[in-house]
Amino acid sequence: MAKFIIANWKMNPSSVKETGLLIDSLNKEIYLNKNIEIVICPPNIFLQKASLLDKKRFNLGVQDISREVKGPFTGEISALMSKSLNASYVILGHSERRGLGESNDIIAQKIKNAIKAKLIPILCVGEKDRTHDGSYLNFIKSELMSSLSLVSKKDAKNIIIAYEPIWSISTTENHQNATGHDFEEIKIYIKKVLSDMYGLNTANTIKILYGGSVDNKNAKEFIDSGADGLLVGKSSLDIKKFSAIINILK
Ligand code: PGA
Repeated sequence: MAKFIIANWKMNPSSVKETGLLIDSLNKEIYLNKNIEIVICPPNIFLQKASLLDKKRFNLGVQDISREVKGPFTGEISALMSKSLNASYVILGHSERRGLGESNDIIAQKIKNAIKAKLIPILCVGEKDRTHDGSYLNFIKSELMSSLSLVSKKDAKNIIIAYEPIWSISTTENHQNATGHDFEEIKIYIKKVLSDMYGLNTANTIKILYGGSVDNKNAKEFIDSGADGLLVGKSSLDIKKFSAIINILK
């Protein structure tokens, strides 16, 4: 089964020109690989520019959508608008957006809008700290249950989950690297929660990715530990590191 590589560019690059250069280097350096589904998520304002990416090798995604469908919501960008600029995926519930006040209820609404517009949601979940009492498991369970509360069993099949422990994200102060073992443990747990929600067959079709300081040195460890793919932030902006990550997955 194909592995997913999601490139989350966050609020980068800082100009159309730099975006063009990054797109050129992706088109030049990354080769077609049927075993890997690459999804590039630029800032919305560069989405049209990103349509210069070779469609055979790259899918487009956005980093967020509005909880609203359309209308008087200044500054918001809808699921349908993103779809009309050829996005097929949307990252939702990223910890950096949760940090700006996004609740599980808002994320649930956004996931509903995404599915309606035929965008595939990539739902990020992950704890701030790993406490010895294991309470982080309950935290992840409630993120999953509340964020997916409006998703039917039929639609759940296409959802992608990205486990991104906040303590491992490159921009978190004093971040620490997660291990393949950390991922493996949570993957089993996430699968159990999904299985309780939707049944084992459906849970087995839901891809579970790892994200948090992924680079060319640790990518293999997470894949070997059962990750269905990787969500890559910082290293997705460095073409050498990014292509090395993809080569590891071949
Ligand atoms: P990072 O970002 O790879 O720079 O840690 C991952 C993310 O926040 O999605």
